[in-house]
Amino acid sequence: MILLVTGGAGFIGSCFVRHILKKHPDYKIFNIDALTYCGNLENLNDLRNNSNHKFIHGNICDKKLIKELAAESDCIINFAAESHVDNSIKNPEIFIETNIQGTLNLLQAAKEFKIDRFLQVSTDEVYGTLGKNGYFYETTPLAPNSPYSASKAGADMIVRAYYETYKLPTLNTRCSNNYGPYQYPEKLIPFFISLLLKGEKVPVYGDGLNVRDWLYVYDHCEAIDMVLHKGRIGEVYNIGGHNEKTNLEITKLILEAMGKDAGSIKYVEDRLGHDRRYAISNDKITNELGWRPSVTFEEGIKLTINWYLDNQDWIKSIEKKKAGLK
Ligand SMILES: NC(=O)c1ccc[n+]([C@@H]2O[C@H](COP(=O)([O-])OP(=O)(O)OC[C@H]3O[C@@H](n4cnc5c(N)ncnc54)[C@H](O)[C@@H]3O)[C@@H](O)[C@H]2O)c1
Repeated sequence: MILLVTGGAGFIGSCFVRHILKKHPDYKIFNIDALTYCGNLENLNDLRNNSNHKFIHGNICDKKLIKELAAESDCIINFAAESHVDNSIKNPEIFIETNIQGTLNLLQAAKEFKIDRFLQVSTDEVYGTLGKNGYFYETTPLAPNSPYSASKAGADMIVRAYYETYKLPTLNTRCSNNYGPYQYPEKLIPFFISLLLKGEKVPVYGDGLNVRDWLYVYDHCEAIDMVLHKGRIGEVYNIGGHNEKTNLEITKLILEAMGKDAGSIKYVEDRLGHDRRYAISNDKITNELGWRPSVTFEEGIKLTINWYLDNQDWIKSIEKKKAGLK
């Protein structure tokens, strides 16, 4: 089996590539990534000598390249995206280009070369925001609130259209917030750890009571693997671990693990259009496919914080790149 994985030098994509090569040692992977500011070949260091892994530096909007790769592949799994909400508020255009146009380009190639499965990796953010109660189900209407989530929702709708119109064998996953090793330090957990390591305060948006549902990245990758192999074609699968935490709760856990107290928090003006609460029902994937998270939140967050503390060179190397020193 040959998989074309896009965005495989990013946080979740690199975990997925590693996970697949370990679990299915006979599979081959074409890993295409544009290496934008958050794509990082260091995330793939341990796969350098793996002959089943081929990295290609390229863009999912490049029609010719995508056709060449699709022609050789059995399945496409699309992780490549602009993924940071704050950036989408400042500069939405690139989100539309990569997340929508790029996905369309992949779908066209998938159709032309009669790909066996096309799996679109999406997010619970496409559903919008919740009040105090309730969950996002696969049947919840899409109501994205940020340019990022709107671009992901747009891509999901095109994926749906390719299934309905052309009978392309598509699958669509929508996962809650991920945490774990190799996450670019612009996202809450690695960002806060990197600031605390430099003795700086951590900026908490608004009152800090926005709720996110957290899942360990390896559990997300295992869920995608299951959907790819056993999911029903044309279906959407929500992925989440029922770990709802406020941003303040996450912040306090990090402070505690790093021997700091609430004095290291600075409250900052809330993000524009900040969704209040996300919580996702995982009934469908657990009942249909038997997926279950393998680690509890308490275990996962401990593993994660320890990984960043043990891999400070990884953070430093990114900070050097950011500062233009490399
Ligand atoms: N991080 C989360 O909590 C989360 C939750 C649910 C879903 N997702 C989805 O999972 C996917 C991966 O997210 P992530 O957190 O790993 O993001 P990330 O930003 O760490 O990785 C994205 C990768 O895509 C690459 N990329 C960007 N534009 C590209 C292009 N035009 N062509 C080729 N490669 C390109 C980047 O270089 C990077 O390596 C995204 O589609 C995201 O929407 C993320």
